[in-house]
Amino acid sequence: MSKKVLVATEKPFAKDAVAAIKKIGGEAGYEIVLLENYTDRNDLLKAVADADAMIIRSDIVNAEVIAAANQLKIVVRAGAGYDNIDLAASKERGIVAMNTPGQNSNAVAEAVFGIMLNLARRNYSGKSGTELRGKKLGLHAYGYVGRAVNAIAKGFGMEVFAYDPFVDKDKMKAEGVNPVDSVEALYTTCDYISLHIPKTKETLNSINYDLLSKTKKGATLINSAREEVIDEPSLLKIFEERKDFFYGADVAPKCREELSQKYPDRCFFTAKKLGAQTEEANNNAGIAAIKQIINFLEKGDTTFQVNK
Ligand code: 3PG
Repeated sequence: MSKKVLVATEKPFAKDAVAAIKKIGGEAGYEIVLLENYTDRNDLLKAVADADAMIIRSDIVNAEVIAAANQLKIVVRAGAGYDNIDLAASKERGIVAMNTPGQNSNAVAEAVFGIMLNLARRNYSGKSGTELRGKKLGLHAYGYVGRAVNAIAKGFGMEVFAYDPFVDKDKMKAEGVNPVDSVEALYTTCDYISLHIPKTKETLNSINYDLLSKTKKGATLINSAREEVIDEPSLLKIFEERKDFFYGADVAPKCREELSQKYPDRCFFTAKKLGAQTEEANNNAGIAAIKQIINFLEKGDTTFQVNK
């Protein structure tokens, strides 16, 4: 009997990406089963029961899903952030968890510029706006997405700064980025700050009042990372206090309605999280995911494992 790969995507991949996953998986002798647009968690629990491998996006793979996965050997998050996988529970069961770093980063970086331009032009309301050229852009973390944002920023004529204690400063400099020594320095220096930090215990609510109040006059914060890294009471407070503060997010806060109503020209939120929702990104991440599964199941290749 062929091994089963479940593609469980509440937010489905583009059609081409699904076709590519089916083709590559099929040629390697795997059965690809789709569970798309599901709204009931029970559907996921049922579908995972006889899966040998699973491809997900932001889909939650918690201890309950792990417990229901009787023969799962690997779960691949087709994307960067893996905060949606219970790493401890999967490790305990001997299930390998992986991500596909870099595969969707250009899509997210382009979305960041879409949001920045929207805010710079006051949501195209007809009001006079500003330009990106000559402005200082601060990258809060310099991973794949930060790098892709930097590459695009050059075309806009922006001066780029970055804070990332895990990245070599010489590497940043070689890519035309000014490294800064502290997160505070980034927030006091830059006109635009773009968040690229993962959601971890350390980063949860870490963008707080203290940090936000250090931003320059007219500063814009862009969040294409995770909703939970922002401390929402702090965000509301800074909006109230500072008529010159702008915020745009692909991962909208719970207070999005309140902000949109009170400050329509100073905030912008995508309809739903769509930074990585392009055909290209879905293809890249989906194909990488199925190849990683095959390489693991056939050859034991654990490159990209995140729960070692
Ligand atoms: C990621 O971590 O790769 C991005 O946040 C994209 O998430 P998505 O696959 O849910 O669009």
